Amino acid sequence: MQLDEIRALVAADLAAVDATIRAQLASDVALVSQVGEYIIGAGGKRLRPLLVVLAARAAGSRGDAHIAAAALIEFIHTATLLHDDVVDDSSQRRGRDTANETFGSPASVLVGDFLYSRAFQMMAALDSAAVIRVMADATNTIAAGEVLQLMNSHDPDTTEIRYLEVIDRKTARLFAAGARIAAIVAGAPPAVEEALERYGRHLGVAFQLIDDALDYRGDAVVLGKNVGEDLAEGKPTLPLIHALQHAAPADAARIRSAIAGGGTDQHEPILAIVESTGGLDYTARLAAEEADRARAALTGVPDSVFRDGLAALARFAVTRSA
Ligand code: IPE
Ligand code: IPE
Ligand code: MG
Ligand code: MG
Repeated sequence: MQLDEIRALVAADLAAVDATIRAQLASDVALVSQVGEYIIGAGGKRLRPLLVVLAARAAGSRGDAHIAAAALIEFIHTATLLHDDVVDDSSQRRGRDTANETFGSPASVLVGDFLYSRAFQMMAALDSAAVIRVMADATNTIAAGEVLQLMNSHDPDTTEIRYLEVIDRKTARLFAAGARIAAIVAGAPPAVEEALERYGRHLGVAFQLIDDALDYRGDAVVLGKNVGEDLAEGKPTLPLIHALQHAAPADAARIRSAIAGGGTDQHEPILAIVESTGGLDYTARLAAEEADRARAALTGVPDSVFRDGLAALARFAVTRSA
């Protein structure tokens, strides 16, 4: 199943999510709607809302609470992107200039806060203490994960374990929370809720591993964002950590100084070291294992075409080029 076919399984739900997103972007402050429309209107893959509606349907959802759940997860994701692009000083996102490039960092940070808090308003309207608990924990963990990443930045001694801790927090927890609140609003039994959360968590780790590999070998046009930024920012992601561990001493020294100093001048030679030490293959292998674990978790979810869609989504997460 390709991504379009997965989306087709829940086409009506996705259209409803889109309408909710548009409606909830509204604000009486013009710049809020303008920046919000700018980043949301650029699209993005909308993978998290897709995950939420598939999980909700797989868990037997009948009402429409999962539509709001999917929209609010995308709002939180978008808020983190607005903030992330300021922190990473990124200039391209979703095939256009970033919001910070177009409107400036202050507007990006503040509209990010607007989207975050709008997501909590939508959560409150769902009237489920369990949903609020899951989302409060997830957003807090994500924020701490971003800070942890900041602490690893420019640190050549960052270990694989510390890296995995960051991606689990900053990315996987939102996928996990989305899958879990889908089960909650569907009224699924605890075992299904846990299975879906586990699925989301492994999927999220796989997704970020591939994002980090694509930052080295992806196509900027296809991705809609610049590549090579992690190295330029001195961000020790897995391809680089693995290369550092397996490179000859002179090459290792070169990597250490690139992490410490950042910049783009060493990009070509370091890319060659990452390739020759198998850093990208290793990252892809770990991602594939995580995707396998995500699929394995689905045995705890009743069989349906929506569960098949979730399995296909796990496959997409690790075969994607965008
Ligand atoms: C980008 O996420 C941030 C990461 C967690 C890697 P996506 O690749 O899902 O971004 P959009 O929403 O499709 O633009
Ligand atoms: C994902 O990390 C950021 C969040 C989860 C907020 P990246 O910094 O790798 O994401 P991109 O590459 O900018 O999309
Ligand atoms: Mg970034
Ligand atoms: Mg990235």
